[in-house]
Amino acid sequence: MSDTVIRVENLGKKYIINRKNQERYTALRDVIADRAKLFGRRIKKPFAQQNKHQTFEDFWALKDVSFEVKQGDRVGIIGRNGAGKSTLLKILSRITEPTTGRISIKGRVASLLEVGTGFHPELTGRENIYLNGAILGMSRVEIKKKFDEIVSFAEVEKFLDTPVKRYSSGMYVRLAFAVAAHLEPEILVVDEVLAVGDAAFQQKCLGKMEEVGKEGRTVLFVSHNIGAIRALCKSGILLSEGTLVANDLIDNVITNYISSPVSCSDTYIAEKNLEKPHFRKIEISQGERISGNAFAIDQPIRIKFHVERLEKKEIIIGIVIRNSQGLWIHHSSDEFNSETVNNSSSRRECRLPPYALSPGKYYVDAYLGQRNIETLENIIDCLIFEVEFTGIMSDRTTAGDWKGICGPGLLSWH
Ligand SMILES: Nc1ncnc2c1ncn2[C@@H]1O[C@H](COP(=O)(O)OP(=O)(O)O)[C@@H](O)[C@H]1O
Ligand SMILES: [Mg+2]
Repeated sequence: MSDTVIRVENLGKKYIINRKNQERYTALRDVIADRAKLFGRRIKKPFAQQNKHQTFEDFWALKDVSFEVKQGDRVGIIGRNGAGKSTLLKILSRITEPTTGRISIKGRVASLLEVGTGFHPELTGRENIYLNGAILGMSRVEIKKKFDEIVSFAEVEKFLDTPVKRYSSGMYVRLAFAVAAHLEPEILVVDEVLAVGDAAFQQKCLGKMEEVGKEGRTVLFVSHNIGAIRALCKSGILLSEGTLVANDLIDNVITNYISSPVSCSDTYIAEKNLEKPHFRKIEISQGERISGNAFAIDQPIRIKFHVERLEKKEIIIGIVIRNSQGLWIHHSSDEFNSETVNNSSSRRECRLPPYALSPGKYYVDAYLGQRNIETLENIIDCLIFEVEFTGIMSDRTTAGDWKGICGPGLLSWH
């Protein structure tokens, strides 16, 4: 049909993974760095033997995915971690090639993927704006017309002539979003980069994406923030383990997503070592564990964080707790307890008091950052756990009796 702008047919993407060293998550910059290292190694040691304990195997990050997007559609792409969302966006942005199948795209695509893509680190903010415009096929005059709008949206006036490698990740994302959204692409593709950080800027971005959609341009948006997806998108695509499981109106796709079973996970362990501060381990526990990550509502729950490569940095740790409807029911960081937290300690802990949450399943995102500077790491769904009726509530067997988002411990009665 003539108004189809994206057609994806039987798309598959295969990665060869190293079993011993399997990574849960790889950003593009890591792939580039790894390739550079590999290249260097080959030159230095042409006869280097492979470690005999390593086994390589095929891993399909996307399998037989087909769908169409029409001009002006705003499509939310949802799915658990590792479902293949970022891989799909990278293929649509032509940053990586599909292994099987094909895509056809009508129009210019501007994408905001993980930090590290799209901008040249040595060039200044100003130069990168012109470079991105040129890549999108715009003339210098056209870019000039948009320039001031981009700079004021991104709030980076003072740093326009600074190389972007010196930008904090917050500034980087602001400028990258402003460029992608203002340079009049026909198709705007936005990955999860807006997940954490400045809530006001997030709101501004959502508003801008809506505007872009209203102008008849097409938007593809990945987020774990179900509220934002529901507000922005008309239709949705649900991916699970690389397969497309739903492609429907957004409300139907969200219902499908939140009702699909997910197993709990009480520990996150980093599977790779990074140069910068990062989470080594995140653990959730309760003195008296019931079973399978279900915690008693009447007892405190502890979350412990262990950070590696802290060196002399002072960092803050924050968490977001989402319920099974995908709503952010809590967001806080240890900045709120500056008198008890040692900012240079590699171990932190937070404690949920009894009855803080209603019975149900919860999803935790954790992030690590430097105050007012940058987010160093953001791990979505690092923990998944359940709260069960116990204690004075143990006879309340139907969760439907308790409809509040916050637990009954929010109020005290006198
Ligand atoms: N460059 C890569 N090499 C090997 N595996 C990868 C690479 N990129 C992604 N993967 C794997 O592909 C799967 C899908 O990843 P991704 O598209 O990032 O998922 P999502 O964005 O939905 O969390 C994951 O299991 C991930 O570990
Ligand atoms: Mg992703």
